[in-house]
Amino acid sequence: MSKETLTITDNRTGKTYELPISQGCIRTADLRQIKVDPSDFGLMGYDPAFLNTANCRSAITFIDGDKGILEYRGYPIEQLAEQSTFLEVCYLLMNGELPSRQELADFTHVITHHTYVHENVKTFMDGFRYDAHPMSMLASTVAALSAFYPEAKNIQDPQVRRIQMMRMVAKMPTLAAFSFRHAMGLPYVYPNNDLSYVGNFLTMIKKIGTDSYRLNPVLERALDILFILHADHEQNCSTTAVRLVGSSEVDPYSAVAAGITALYGPLHGGANEAVLKMLRSIGHLDKVPEFIKLVKSGEGETRLMGFGHRVYKSYDPRAKVIKRVADEVFEVTGKNPLLEIALELERIALQDDYFIKRKLYPNVDFYSGLIYEAMGFQQAFFPVLFGIPRTVGWVSQWEEMVLDQEQKIARPRQVYVGHPRRDYVPFDKR
Ligand code: CMC
Repeated sequence: MSKETLTITDNRTGKTYELPISQGCIRTADLRQIKVDPSDFGLMGYDPAFLNTANCRSAITFIDGDKGILEYRGYPIEQLAEQSTFLEVCYLLMNGELPSRQELADFTHVITHHTYVHENVKTFMDGFRYDAHPMSMLASTVAALSAFYPEAKNIQDPQVRRIQMMRMVAKMPTLAAFSFRHAMGLPYVYPNNDLSYVGNFLTMIKKIGTDSYRLNPVLERALDILFILHADHEQNCSTTAVRLVGSSEVDPYSAVAAGITALYGPLHGGANEAVLKMLRSIGHLDKVPEFIKLVKSGEGETRLMGFGHRVYKSYDPRAKVIKRVADEVFEVTGKNPLLEIALELERIALQDDYFIKRKLYPNVDFYSGLIYEAMGFQQAFFPVLFGIPRTVGWVSQWEEMVLDQEQKIARPRQVYVGHPRRDYVPFDKR
């Protein structure tokens, strides 16, 4: 009869150990009993970048990378993108269940009425240089919010916790729009509580003078869908940063600011910008085969940006939805001239053995940059457009971590490879 255990024989000592397996995992702390002698620290797992280490149990997002599945609280991303709205998805992620009509109305009311920021926050943002990167502004300002809401440090109080989570989801579009206007040298536009979450954000970005900016419902819905697709992605780099920083029991603004800085990195939130740079450098349809050849040759380590994923090895389910959204957006904005190059790259790559063998398919970033550019956003703003919707994922994961009885302050081990003990050498003896 099969047993949910793992038997390990330590060939250094000949001793055998039996470790319990639960939900497909052993506890690496159980390895510590495996020692050469009593003074030995015990066996550890060495896992740079957490390639095979689960840091938590989570009930929020499920991914099956081989099958191309992404689900929030059990609901497939395709169904949510088709039938839900971003605020409903926020409720789902934060509360675990879809809301009733009344629950959604109440939730929307609270989010809508927390969109304003203290006037001093505006002054704080004004202090940045004219060319400040919007992600630097966003990360610093979210960190600064902890000074505006000092009660946020009472993280064990459920009501206090919840209000900060709602505030962050509500204020992120305002802060993002202010950072955009700052870069453009335009006056900040205050939130309009009569508009939808995305409609309000687009208005704060686009409105000039007293003319009311007329929202295009297709673009409003397209951005809402993009927000749904980016709302959470389980234990990625920025979410892990939020959990690790939050594990010190710091307030959630400080923890989320860490997530924003992680997202700022080109390997995380910056890939769609890299796709646009690549498409521009290719420049013309005729150059596509030559570029594919260059990628395959491995020369200069050129990669087909927007292809491949650490987790998805069949296809990225978000990419399928995004492609449809792109068609709808381009109907309104006109085609981004780079689209043809992207389509040709995709067509060739999907038939090419090099990409097929390595399971390289378009990921979420292959088309998102083209959409953002068509909607009038500059490349530097793309990671901000990722950070706004990811905020709900960060705060949901943060609260799950706070409530998890098994969690403690995060403190990985190391394998020390430096000098053995040596005595201090005075200057004249060096
Ligand atoms: N173009 C060409 N070859 C590639 C690519 C690519 N985009 N991605 C991977 N490969 C090759 C790689 O050279 C290697 O080949 P070989 O076995 O001959 O050495 C093989 O495929 C495996 O690559 P890897 O680097 O070990 O795979 P990884 O899982 O570590 O990398 C990745 C995942 C996303 C970093 C990588 O696919 C990549 O650099 N893609 C381009 C950048 C990109 O689009 N990033 C956005 C990811 S989605 C955003 C998000 O979800 O946050």
